[in-house]
Amino acid sequence: MSKTIIITGGAGFIGSHLVRLFVNKYPEYTIVNLDALTYAGNLENLKDMEGRPNYIFEKANIVDAAAVQALFQKYQPDGVIHLAAESHVDRSITSPLDFVYTNVVGTVNLLNAAKELWGPLPASPAGGGARFHHVSTDEVYGALGSTGLFTEDTKYDPHSPYSASKASSDHFVYAYADTYGLPVVLTNCSNNYGPNHFPEKLIPLMIHNIINNKPLPVYGDGNYTRDWLYVIDHARAIDLVFHQGTNGEKYNVGGFNEWKNIDLVKLLCKQMDEKLGHAEGTSAQLITYVKDRPGHDLRYAIDATKINRELGWAPSVTFEEGLSKTIDWYLSNTEWLEHVTSGAYQEYYERQYMH
Ligand code: NAD
Ligand code: TYD
Repeated sequence: MSKTIIITGGAGFIGSHLVRLFVNKYPEYTIVNLDALTYAGNLENLKDMEGRPNYIFEKANIVDAAAVQALFQKYQPDGVIHLAAESHVDRSITSPLDFVYTNVVGTVNLLNAAKELWGPLPASPAGGGARFHHVSTDEVYGALGSTGLFTEDTKYDPHSPYSASKASSDHFVYAYADTYGLPVVLTNCSNNYGPNHFPEKLIPLMIHNIINNKPLPVYGDGNYTRDWLYVIDHARAIDLVFHQGTNGEKYNVGGFNEWKNIDLVKLLCKQMDEKLGHAEGTSAQLITYVKDRPGHDLRYAIDATKINRELGWAPSVTFEEGLSKTIDWYLSNTEWLEHVTSGAYQEYYERQYMH
C-alpha cells in the first residue's frame, strides 16, 4: 500500500539508517526526510539516497510551527517517525534550553500538525492507518544501581537536561493519545553505535582519537555502564513497531549487552591495534581518566523482552561483530570523518540543493 511517511532527523546518525532501510524496503512509500541540518545533521550520510524516486529531503526546523504545518499540508503524511532531537548529554549540560526548544517544543509542534491533519481519531488498538512513532531513549528512566533492568513499567526519573527533555516529549506524546486520540507508538532504546555516528559520542570519539593518536578521555573511574545496540538493529526495531506495534503502547529496545565504559574502550583499543597492525597495548596507552560528567548516570540496562515476545525482534549482531564492522566503516570512510571534523560536511546541502 502506498504511504507517505515523514521521518524527522533523517540526516542524523540513527535517522540516516532508518531512511535508507525504508527507502530500500518500501519502494511503494514516499519517504520525506525533514531535518534542520544542525551540527549533527549530515547529508553525506545519505549520498546514496539522492535521486531515488521515493526519497525527498526537506530542510526545516521543527521548532518553527508554521513550517511544520506547511510541510504536513504539502505531503499529507500517513505516518510520522520522529527522531529529530538534540541528542548529546554533555551539550545539554552547557545549553539546556536548546534541548527544550527542539526536544519538547519541536515535538509538540509535530503532534499539533499530525492532530490537525488527521482530525479526531478514535484510538484503535489494532493500529493501521495514521501513526505517530516517537523515538525515545532509555535515559528517561534514570539510573540503575548494579542490578535490575528498565522495563516498560519503570517510572520516569530523568537526571540530565537531555533526558528531562526527552521524558517531557514522551509525556506529551501520551497526552496527545489520551486527550485527542492521536494514534501513537513509542520506542525507548539504549545506546546505539555504528557507522555515521558523530564523533562527540563515546565510541566514534575513541575511534577518531586512536586514528589521530590523541588521548582517550574516560570520564571518572570508567565504571559507568551502558547497554549497546548496533544502529541497524534499532532501525529494524523501529520498522517493526511502526508497522506492527499496538497503538498507545511503548516498547523498550536494547542489546542485552552491558559494558562498563573502561572495558568497552579496552576492547575497542584491542580491535583497533589488530586492524591498524599496531602492537597489542599501543592504543590503550592513550587512555586518560578525566573529570567526571556532572550528574553522571551509573548504569543503564534494558529489558527488551516485550518487543522480542510480541514482535519477534532480537539483535542480529554480537557486540564484537558490530564493533568490528563499525571500526572498519570508520577506517574506510576517512573522508566522512575528515569532513565532519573540518566542518566541510555542512557545505553539502548548498552544493546539492541550492544551485
Ligand atoms: P543525532 O544527534 O545524530 O541526529 C539528530 C538529527 O536531528 C540531526 O540530523 C539534526 O540535524 C536533526 N535536528 C536537530 N534539531 C532539529 C530541529 N530543531 N529541527 C529539525 N531537525 C533537527 O541523533 P541520533 O543519535 O541519531 O538520535 C536520534 C533520535 O534517537 C533522538 O530522538 C534520540 O533522542 C534518540 N535516541 C538516540 C540514541 C543514541 O544512542 N544515539 C539512543 C536512544 C534514542
Ligand atoms: P555518550 O556516548 O555521550 O552517551 P550517553 O551519555 O547518552 O550514554 O557516553 C556514553 C558513556 O561514555 C557515558 O557513560 C559517558 C562516557 N563518556 C566518556 O567516558 N568519555 C567521553 O569522551 C564521552 C563522550 C563519554
